[in-house]
Amino acid sequence: MEAVDRTNGRVFSDRGRLYTESLCPGKRIYGERLVSVSGTEYREWDPRRSKLSAYLSAGGRSFPFGTGSRVLYLGASSGTTASHVADICPEGKVFCVEFAQRMFRELVSTCGTRPNMMPILGDATKPDGYSMFVGSADIVYQDVAQKRQADIICDNMDAFGAQYGMVAVKARSEDVTASPESIFAAAEGRIKERGFRIIDELSLEPYEKSHEMIVFGRKSL
Ligand SMILES: C[S@@+](CC[C@H](N)C(=O)[O-])C[C@H]1O[C@@H](n2cnc3c(N)ncnc32)[C@H](O)[C@@H]1O
Repeated sequence: MEAVDRTNGRVFSDRGRLYTESLCPGKRIYGERLVSVSGTEYREWDPRRSKLSAYLSAGGRSFPFGTGSRVLYLGASSGTTASHVADICPEGKVFCVEFAQRMFRELVSTCGTRPNMMPILGDATKPDGYSMFVGSADIVYQDVAQKRQADIICDNMDAFGAQYGMVAVKARSEDVTASPESIFAAAEGRIKERGFRIIDELSLEPYEKSHEMIVFGRKSL
């Protein structure tokens, strides 16, 4: 098991598979493989189940997460990827926002396995609705599959004073008739118009069709 460079030593690899160090040894969240090496347990992080893992597997080079990061995670669903982010940031906090009741119930159960995860039933388009729980964040990570993805993450970056944003843009959620390339270019343009600097942009193929990860930050970074 070796730490993957570019990940601040927080993500590991072995024979081409990615892993995070489990904060909650012995527990699986979604049937993932558990591997023990010298008394430390690692959870396999499948790029076909997580866009953040897909980004790293596809060669993504920007990874702003560290042990103490406060992360606002928009579109947490049942907490699959968010649980790996919690492994990556054991001394930080992962605020997990989800608006679908059924997914939220599963999210609450996932968050019960990790003290640094907080489930929030909320709408990512209305940051005022959860600002009392979050306060401030270092990073906003977004995977919401709806329209106006660039504006939603920028609104949250501004509301919580975050330095870094990471958005998995799903082209088909914006417009099924336009080409994915034009949608990704429009999202990047909008992020720049909102006053941020693009750090990286990468297609998530072959793991996710018509998705791009955009990593961006404040101009002062
Ligand atoms: C593709 S899934 C997220 C998968 C998850 N990020 C993972 O990797 O484990 C998108 C989720 O975003 C949620 N969602 C969509 N729009 C939202 C909004 N405005 N506010 C909060 N959640 C939203 C959906 O209910 C869905 O659970």
